[in-house]
Amino acid sequence: MDIHLFESKTLQLPSPIQELNISQFKEANVRVFVKRDDLIHPIISGNKWRKLREYIRLAKEFPQLPLVSFGGAYSNHLYALAYIGHEFKIPTMGIIRGKELNKSSNPFLEQMFNWGMELHFISREDYKEKISPIKRDSILIPEGGYSEIGINGIQNLVSELENFNPSHIVTAVGTGTTALGIHKYWKKPVIGILTLNNLAEIQQHEEELNSSGITWKTDYIMGKYAKETPIINDFCQSFEEQHQIKIEPIYTGRMFYGLYDMIAKKAFPEGSTILAIHTGGIKLPN
Ligand SMILES: Cc1ncc(COP(=O)(O)O)c(C=O)c1O
Repeated sequence: MDIHLFESKTLQLPSPIQELNISQFKEANVRVFVKRDDLIHPIISGNKWRKLREYIRLAKEFPQLPLVSFGGAYSNHLYALAYIGHEFKIPTMGIIRGKELNKSSNPFLEQMFNWGMELHFISREDYKEKISPIKRDSILIPEGGYSEIGINGIQNLVSELENFNPSHIVTAVGTGTTALGIHKYWKKPVIGILTLNNLAEIQQHEEELNSSGITWKTDYIMGKYAKETPIINDFCQSFEEQHQIKIEPIYTGRMFYGLYDMIAKKAFPEGSTILAIHTGGIKLPN
């Protein structure tokens, strides 16, 4: 399938922008909008489509090469890649952390297998070293999609902001690809809310790209990656009740929690128009 045809037939693009109207923001004299990338598609939602799009183009140029990537047993990234492989008839391979697992270990792995992804389960030690068991030529997508190709895919998000001119963009940070991509194409303040203790790695990425100027916030990691706390779970629930927008605790929950807190602490000048990117992450087995 042609990418443009797929985008116009199957995806909600450009993704809508929605204002969050609450008294707390009015009192702080800021306006907050959400770029609803979570609505792009139920599976390749949020930054997944943005980060993987350019890899589809590459795979089409080299149809004999599979797209290969790494992830955990519940990886949104691999799940989206498997779906893309199925839709675009591109061979895909997933290298999965956990030698003890198999294709039936959870419904997501089962679905990925049914979409035609070749699954390879490796030990946690090999995973740490990113030792690939795949010996044939392939197109390797780094874990979480961090690469120049992934970053370039964010250009489309920025180009959708042509008629909307926020003063700040806020996004959740895993590998930093989304934030770095926004900063590359949108030369105004970008705030990245970290979700894991990887600031040094993110700053190394920045250096490699000769990029600077993103504000990285480490105040909302809440201990470690994906750590569940009643605070974040309650926040996600009340956010959904308030705005009828689903968020999850790992990425977008921490990002919105951080944004609310920063606004309460007057981190944004009065009159700011803040755009928060809803990077998706709500996944349902098919
Ligand atoms: C829902 C969601 N939001 C944000 C991120 C972090 O994005 P990035 O790795 O581009 O920093 C991820 C991870 O890929 C994610 O799954």
